[in-house]
Amino acid sequence: MATIHVDGQRYDVDGADNLLDACLSLGLDVPYFCWHPAMGSVGACRQCAVKQYQDENDTRGKLVMSCMTPASDGSWISIDDDEAREFRASVIEWLMINHPHDCPVCEEGGHCHLQDMTVMTGHDRRRYRFRKRTHRNQYLGPFIAHEMNRCITCYRCVRFYRDYAGGTDLGAFGANDNIYFGRHQEGVLESPFSGNLTEVCPTGVFTDQTHSERYTRKWDLQFAPSLCHQCAVGCNISPGERYGDIRRIENRYHGEVNRFFLCDRGRFGYGYVNRDDRPRLPEWRSDRGDERVTLEVDAALDRGADRLRSARRVIGIGSPRASLESNHQLRALVGEGNFSTGIAAAEQRLLGRMQTLNRECGLPTPTLRDVENHDAILILGEDLIASAARVALSVRQAAQARREALAAERGIPAWNDAAVRTLGQDRYHPVFIAYPAATELDDITAGGWTLAPDDIARLGFAVAHEIDAAAPAVDHLDAATREAAREIAASLLAAERPLVISGGSLGSEAIVEAAGNVARALARRACRGSLMLVRREANSTGLALMGGAPLEWALDELESRRADAVVILENDLHQRLPSARIETALDAAETVVVLDHQRTATWERAHLGLPAAAFTEADGTLVSLEGRAQRFFQVFDPAYMRPETRIRESWRWLHVLRADVLRHDVGDIALDAVTRDCARHYPDLAAIIDAAPGADYRVRGLKLAREPQRYSGRTAMRAHINVSEPRAPQDPDSAFTFSMEGYNGFDRPREEVAFAWAPGWNSPQAWNKFTDEVGGHLRAGDPGVRLLAPRPGGYRYADAIPAVHRSAEAEWKVVVLPRLFGGDETSARAAPIQTRAGAPVVRLAADDAARLGVSDGQPLRVAGEHGALVLPVRCEARWPAGTIGVPAGIEPWPAGGEAVTLAVAATQANEEGRA
Ligand code: SF4
Ligand code: SF4
Ligand code: FES
Repeated sequence: MATIHVDGQRYDVDGADNLLDACLSLGLDVPYFCWHPAMGSVGACRQCAVKQYQDENDTRGKLVMSCMTPASDGSWISIDDDEAREFRASVIEWLMINHPHDCPVCEEGGHCHLQDMTVMTGHDRRRYRFRKRTHRNQYLGPFIAHEMNRCITCYRCVRFYRDYAGGTDLGAFGANDNIYFGRHQEGVLESPFSGNLTEVCPTGVFTDQTHSERYTRKWDLQFAPSLCHQCAVGCNISPGERYGDIRRIENRYHGEVNRFFLCDRGRFGYGYVNRDDRPRLPEWRSDRGDERVTLEVDAALDRGADRLRSARRVIGIGSPRASLESNHQLRALVGEGNFSTGIAAAEQRLLGRMQTLNRECGLPTPTLRDVENHDAILILGEDLIASAARVALSVRQAAQARREALAAERGIPAWNDAAVRTLGQDRYHPVFIAYPAATELDDITAGGWTLAPDDIARLGFAVAHEIDAAAPAVDHLDAATREAAREIAASLLAAERPLVISGGSLGSEAIVEAAGNVARALARRACRGSLMLVRREANSTGLALMGGAPLEWALDELESRRADAVVILENDLHQRLPSARIETALDAAETVVVLDHQRTATWERAHLGLPAAAFTEADGTLVSLEGRAQRFFQVFDPAYMRPETRIRESWRWLHVLRADVLRHDVGDIALDAVTRDCARHYPDLAAIIDAAPGADYRVRGLKLAREPQRYSGRTAMRAHINVSEPRAPQDPDSAFTFSMEGYNGFDRPREEVAFAWAPGWNSPQAWNKFTDEVGGHLRAGDPGVRLLAPRPGGYRYADAIPAVHRSAEAEWKVVVLPRLFGGDETSARAAPIQTRAGAPVVRLAADDAARLGVSDGQPLRVAGEHGALVLPVRCEARWPAGTIGVPAGIEPWPAGGEAVTLAVAATQANEEGRA
């Protein structure tokens, strides 16, 4: 701690901070541009000048950049000093000389840090009367729009893109007063974190292109605290809605999870919730399938209840992309013995195993923030960019923290970014990755191995044995693998905090067991390490904790006619098992009820389809891969702008359907009651009621506002429907109002913040007003509750070590590879994601390709037990011989692990492709 004096007031601050950080953490306003809490200081913009004095008797003082000056004990500074004020005013004036002042047409307007700082600094007259410097803009892909004339040369963009996120295709070009920030030539920005430029850039150079098509000012958007549903990481997001459409997604600060940054799938993958072809009314399909009609709610429920009542046995198929509450209501409808999680057996086995390991291996699961505090990392069988992108960004920070450690030895503070980078150069904490292909983290790895899944597992088992001789040894280990295992083991043991990351992406139980053995071995050697296991979908962890039979069980029950009716919740079964198997089972069912917000292949098979709310129209609870139960809240009521719609939350549909089946008159139900019931039923989920405050939560007696105070046009928004404005929708499920009325301040700490705004702070930098210190934790505590607490268990080392992978002359093993863009069930339906994803390919080792006589781009036919697909081939220089990589997100057959035949396909075979 240090004591500093600011304009005569005495404060206790963290002496390791710089003065800017310390002042902002105290809630004082100091303007700044180039500093960023996650990226530190470079002293480039000169906007944060304050007057510093030697002591209380010094009356002259000197101007210093607060971001470059330590908050040392006994510092005396003034923010209000006239000279400091004038200096800051002159800085903003010169930064604005070439700025186009085009706020009325700039998409940053209204949430622009440059606007905020200009007002804060008092610059309100343009004196420059000459021509301004102008630039040509670039096409940067489907996500980011570019308007370089607005640049103030703060360098934040390239510092984030290159230094923080490891991108290489965005740079600074030019010199003096003519600097250009862009690509060396037009083209798609390659970084999977490019969307963060829209928040990092303090002005409107980089804006969200998905938002441009239906642009709305921030103050006219309605928000709610929400969760990204596009993978299992559980990033907190702030979606903004207007006229019944989601217009954009911004980062919502969470001190332990995503903090300031999202990946591009999460930020730009929301388009599926706006699709015109979404089911918005209940649909009834005749038994012969030749007639499809839409129904009103009561008629739909009556027909559905009649069919379910008359069925001999009804089973339910849940979903790891739906909330706990919806899955629980389905289980309540069909009964515990009739509920399937909707997850294929192999994946469910893996999820169960990961759950056990998280609890019993002896090492805790780190939070995303905590990942950055590890100094040696082993990644087994995961390409984190593809399977849990935000984790990859944290791994990169962990590796780069070596520079900070080196700097600390020389007394250089971690925030002094340029000095730290200059000193550390490309020295990283060791990261080791074993995966079938090269990954986007390879530039920071100390060792990378492209191996078949079984060989990845063998390497992991060998590492465990090197760490602890009691762990099973690996037979027939070749010298290179033994050497690699020794190197990895030595690094993990030498680290203060080693981290093991693995997961189910390659569908290999052996890899997960190997990671568990490494974690267990480290725990037995009393290391302060951690184990992180990657799951696939937003609620995979929650469904595994809830329990239920695997999907194959449900299909068997239908095929064997032990059950004749099925209710399927938000799950396209065709994405999980071969279509033929799904079709046979659904053909056998006399009644198929499907709840979904997408018109999937499974929806098309429904006798009764009930239009479910997407995550932006619903509330519920998810459990992330770190075992954190978090609540997401309804952003808008879909019926307000589209009165004809009959969309309901799945848990609400299922509650009423159950009441109809039982002929109970139970009336409506609110979320809190469902959450409580869910918590009561499953001991592992008992704590979820504490994941967020209930609907009775109030601040100063008020509910919380979803809309900013300047929200405009409310009385006219529905004028094309009815000139009389209806009452705002009421929300019985949460503490939020669908209106600007309600509390939306920052002076009372609260966990659930719909959007970041504070007086004078309209940009995302306003999050600093909600945290206990800049970059710290929300003042009321970070949202959510952890469920996977370690417990003493009789953990025994796994010993099912696979044999060495051998490539055979005419036999290839399939590896299904996750993809960031196009690899999941929902964001793949968003147009910008489809553009960014490009065409899927099959991957093959260059030598194997030569043997087959196939070259890059040629169609290759992959045929296995369950089907065939034809895709263009990509020959990989680094790829395990005898294996073939097929992308996730197309019909998943042939399946991972399956032995397949390959043949160069005739040209017309392209048309058979199912991509
Ligand atoms: S483009 Fe934006 S972030 Fe980059 S230097 Fe210019 S103003 Fe700063
Ligand atoms: S890492 Fe996952 S949860 Fe986070 S923004 Fe990306 S897709 Fe969403
Ligand atoms: S914020 Fe301090 S010089 Fe830019």
